[in-house]
Amino acid sequence: MSEIRNVVEKIKGDLMSERPYVIDEMISAKAIAARVEELCKNIQNEFVGTDKLIVVGLLRGSFVFIADLVRELDLPVEVDFLEASSYGDGMESSREVRILKDLRGAIEGRDVLVVEDIVDTGYTLSHVISLLKSRGPARLKSIALLDKPSRREIDVKADWTGFEIPDEFVVGYGIDYAQRNRNLDHIGKVRFID
Ligand code: IMP
Ligand code: MG
Repeated sequence: MSEIRNVVEKIKGDLMSERPYVIDEMISAKAIAARVEELCKNIQNEFVGTDKLIVVGLLRGSFVFIADLVRELDLPVEVDFLEASSYGDGMESSREVRILKDLRGAIEGRDVLVVEDIVDTGYTLSHVISLLKSRGPARLKSIALLDKPSRREIDVKADWTGFEIPDEFVVGYGIDYAQRNRNLDHIGKVRFID
Protein backbone atom coordinates (compact mmCIF):
# COMPACT_ATOMS: atom_id res chain seq x y z
CA MET A 1 0.00 0.00 0.00
CA SER A 2 2.71 2.48 0.97
CA GLU A 3 4.55 1.41 -2.22
CA ILE A 4 1.59 2.64 -4.23
CA ARG A 5 1.41 5.84 -2.24
CA ASN A 6 5.11 6.46 -2.84
CA VAL A 7 4.66 6.07 -6.57
CA VAL A 8 1.65 8.41 -6.59
CA GLU A 9 3.59 10.99 -4.53
CA LYS A 10 6.52 10.71 -6.93
CA ILE A 11 4.34 11.31 -9.98
CA LYS A 12 2.59 14.23 -8.29
CA GLY A 13 5.98 15.71 -7.39
CA ASP A 14 7.34 15.31 -10.91
CA LEU A 15 4.27 16.96 -12.42
CA MET A 16 4.43 19.90 -10.02
CA SER A 17 8.13 20.48 -10.52
CA GLU A 18 7.61 20.80 -14.26
CA ARG A 19 5.61 23.99 -13.80
CA PRO A 20 7.85 26.92 -14.73
CA TYR A 21 8.75 29.25 -11.89
CA VAL A 22 11.05 32.09 -10.94
CA ILE A 23 12.66 32.76 -7.58
CA ASP A 24 12.23 36.19 -5.95
CA GLU A 25 14.83 37.07 -3.35
CA MET A 26 13.38 37.23 0.16
CA ILE A 27 16.43 37.15 2.48
CA SER A 28 19.87 38.10 1.18
CA ALA A 29 23.05 36.12 1.83
CA LYS A 30 24.36 39.11 3.78
CA ALA A 31 21.29 39.26 6.04
CA ILE A 32 21.58 35.53 6.71
CA ALA A 33 25.27 35.83 7.64
CA ALA A 34 24.54 38.68 10.06
CA ARG A 35 21.72 36.70 11.67
CA VAL A 36 23.89 33.57 11.98
CA GLU A 37 26.42 35.64 13.97
CA GLU A 38 23.72 36.87 16.36
CA LEU A 39 22.26 33.39 16.79
CA CYS A 40 25.68 31.94 17.59
CA LYS A 41 26.17 34.47 20.38
CA ASN A 42 22.90 33.27 21.93
CA ILE A 43 23.83 29.62 21.54
CA GLN A 44 27.23 30.25 23.11
CA ASN A 45 25.64 32.00 26.08
CA GLU A 46 23.30 29.07 26.60
CA PHE A 47 25.96 26.37 26.33
CA VAL A 48 28.89 28.22 27.89
CA GLY A 49 31.23 25.77 29.64
CA THR A 50 29.92 22.70 27.80
CA ASP A 51 32.50 19.94 27.34
CA LYS A 52 30.96 19.21 23.95
CA LEU A 53 27.90 20.31 22.03
CA ILE A 54 26.40 17.77 19.66
CA VAL A 55 24.95 19.71 16.77
CA VAL A 56 22.30 17.61 15.06
CA GLY A 57 21.36 18.69 11.55
CA LEU A 58 18.07 17.56 10.08
CA LEU A 59 18.84 16.41 6.56
CA ARG A 60 18.79 17.58 3.99
CA GLY A 61 17.57 21.18 4.23
CA SER A 62 19.77 22.23 7.16
CA PHE A 63 23.14 21.31 5.66
CA VAL A 64 24.16 24.84 4.64
CA PHE A 65 22.83 26.43 7.84
CA ILE A 66 24.61 23.91 10.06
CA ALA A 67 27.88 24.44 8.14
CA ASP A 68 27.70 28.18 8.81
CA LEU A 69 26.61 27.72 12.43
CA VAL A 70 29.39 25.36 13.49
CA ARG A 71 32.07 27.53 11.88
CA GLU A 72 30.80 30.56 13.77
CA LEU A 73 30.36 28.78 17.13
CA ASP A 74 33.21 29.19 19.57
CA LEU A 75 32.43 25.94 21.44
CA PRO A 76 33.73 22.37 21.18
CA VAL A 77 31.24 20.76 18.79
CA GLU A 78 30.49 17.41 17.24
CA VAL A 79 28.24 17.15 14.21
CA ASP A 80 25.69 14.43 13.58
CA PHE A 81 22.73 14.12 11.23
CA LEU A 82 19.21 12.82 11.36
CA GLU A 83 16.91 12.47 8.41
CA ALA A 84 13.21 12.81 9.04
CA SER A 85 10.75 13.11 6.26
CA SER A 86 7.29 14.60 6.29
CA TYR A 87 7.26 16.06 2.79
CA GLY A 88 7.13 14.14 -0.47
CA ASP A 89 8.58 15.95 -3.44
CA GLY A 90 5.68 18.36 -3.57
CA MET A 91 4.70 21.35 -1.48
CA GLU A 92 2.35 19.86 1.09
CA SER A 93 3.33 18.22 4.36
CA SER A 94 2.24 14.59 4.68
CA ARG A 95 1.88 15.10 8.46
CA GLU A 96 3.45 11.72 8.92
CA VAL A 97 7.02 11.87 10.19
CA ARG A 98 9.35 9.01 9.41
CA ILE A 99 12.95 8.64 10.53
CA LEU A 100 14.88 7.77 7.39
CA LYS A 101 18.33 8.00 8.91
CA ASP A 102 19.12 7.97 12.62
CA LEU A 103 22.03 9.56 14.49
CA ARG A 104 25.35 7.74 14.46
CA GLY A 105 26.17 8.60 18.06
CA ALA A 106 24.45 8.33 21.45
CA ILE A 107 23.24 11.57 23.05
CA GLU A 108 22.47 10.40 26.57
CA GLY A 109 23.87 12.91 29.07
CA ARG A 110 25.12 15.20 26.28
CA ASP A 111 24.35 18.75 25.30
CA VAL A 112 22.43 18.73 22.04
CA LEU A 113 21.37 21.38 19.55
CA VAL A 114 18.87 20.36 16.87
CA VAL A 115 19.16 22.38 13.67
CA GLU A 116 16.13 22.62 11.37
CA ASP A 117 15.73 24.57 8.13
CA ILE A 118 12.03 25.53 8.39
CA VAL A 119 9.32 24.99 10.94
CA ASP A 120 6.11 24.81 8.96
CA THR A 121 3.24 22.70 10.33
CA GLY A 122 5.53 21.77 13.24
CA TYR A 123 5.14 17.99 12.85
CA THR A 124 8.79 17.36 12.04
CA LEU A 125 10.36 19.42 14.82
CA SER A 126 7.95 18.21 17.49
CA HIS A 127 8.49 14.57 16.49
CA VAL A 128 12.28 14.93 16.47
CA ILE A 129 12.34 16.76 19.80
CA SER A 130 10.29 14.06 21.54
CA LEU A 131 12.45 11.34 20.00
CA LEU A 132 15.69 12.96 21.14
CA LYS A 133 14.29 13.83 24.57
CA SER A 134 13.46 10.17 25.10
CA ARG A 135 17.20 9.42 24.82
CA GLY A 136 18.02 11.48 27.91
CA PRO A 137 20.26 14.33 26.73
CA ALA A 138 21.62 16.68 29.44
CA ARG A 139 20.34 19.78 27.63
CA LEU A 140 18.36 19.83 24.39
CA LYS A 141 17.78 23.04 22.44
CA SER A 142 16.54 23.67 18.93
CA ILE A 143 17.18 26.26 16.28
CA ALA A 144 15.40 26.86 12.98
CA LEU A 145 16.57 29.17 10.24
CA LEU A 146 13.00 29.96 9.19
CA ASP A 147 9.62 29.83 10.84
CA LYS A 148 6.19 30.10 9.21
CA PRO A 149 4.02 30.64 12.31
CA SER A 150 0.83 31.05 10.27
CA ARG A 151 1.14 27.43 9.05
CA ARG A 152 1.44 25.84 12.47
CA GLU A 153 -0.70 22.78 13.28
CA ILE A 154 1.33 21.47 16.23
CA ASP A 155 2.21 23.75 19.12
CA VAL A 156 6.00 23.79 18.89
CA LYS A 157 8.59 26.52 18.56
CA ALA A 158 12.35 26.35 18.13
CA ASP A 159 14.32 27.94 20.99
CA TRP A 160 15.93 30.23 18.42
CA THR A 161 14.64 31.30 15.03
CA GLY A 162 16.54 33.08 12.28
CA PHE A 163 13.62 34.71 10.49
CA GLU A 164 9.85 34.54 10.66
CA ILE A 165 8.42 34.46 7.16
CA PRO A 166 4.91 34.55 5.68
CA ASP A 167 3.21 31.53 4.14
CA GLU A 168 5.33 31.33 1.00
CA PHE A 169 7.18 28.37 -0.47
CA VAL A 170 10.89 29.17 -0.26
CA VAL A 171 14.14 27.72 -1.60
CA GLY A 172 17.87 28.30 -1.29
CA TYR A 173 20.56 28.16 1.40
CA GLY A 174 20.07 24.39 1.58
CA ILE A 175 16.30 24.38 1.08
CA ASP A 176 14.85 22.74 -2.01
CA TYR A 177 11.88 22.57 -4.26
CA ALA A 178 11.73 19.00 -5.65
CA GLN A 179 15.46 18.71 -4.83
CA ARG A 180 16.42 21.83 -6.74
CA ASN A 181 17.77 25.27 -5.79
CA ARG A 182 19.54 24.13 -2.60
CA ASN A 183 22.71 25.84 -3.84
CA LEU A 184 21.35 29.40 -3.91
CA ASP A 185 23.28 31.55 -1.42
CA HIS A 186 20.11 33.38 -0.34
CA ILE A 187 16.49 32.54 0.48
CA GLY A 188 14.01 33.17 -2.29
CA LYS A 189 10.34 32.52 -2.78
CA VAL A 190 9.00 30.36 -5.57
CA ARG A 191 6.66 32.17 -7.97
CA PHE A 192 4.95 30.16 -10.68
CA ILE A 193 4.74 31.90 -14.03
CA ASP A 194 2.14 29.81 -15.89
P1 IMP B 1 6.75 20.59 9.04
O1 IMP B 1 6.85 19.20 9.57
O2 IMP B 1 5.46 20.85 8.33
O3 IMP B 1 7.04 21.66 10.06
O4 IMP B 1 7.76 20.70 7.87
C1 IMP B 1 9.04 20.97 8.02
C2 IMP B 1 9.79 20.58 6.77
O5 IMP B 1 9.05 20.83 5.58
C3 IMP B 1 11.01 21.43 6.67
O6 IMP B 1 12.09 20.82 7.31
C4 IMP B 1 11.23 21.53 5.18
O7 IMP B 1 12.04 20.45 4.76
C5 IMP B 1 9.87 21.37 4.58
N1 IMP B 1 9.35 22.69 4.16
C6 IMP B 1 8.45 23.46 4.80
N2 IMP B 1 8.23 24.61 4.16
C7 IMP B 1 9.05 24.58 3.08
C8 IMP B 1 9.32 25.53 2.03
O8 IMP B 1 8.78 26.65 1.97
N3 IMP B 1 10.25 25.14 1.12
C9 IMP B 1 10.88 23.93 1.16
N4 IMP B 1 10.67 23.04 2.14
C10 IMP B 1 9.76 23.36 3.09
MG1 MG C 1 13.39 19.46 6.36
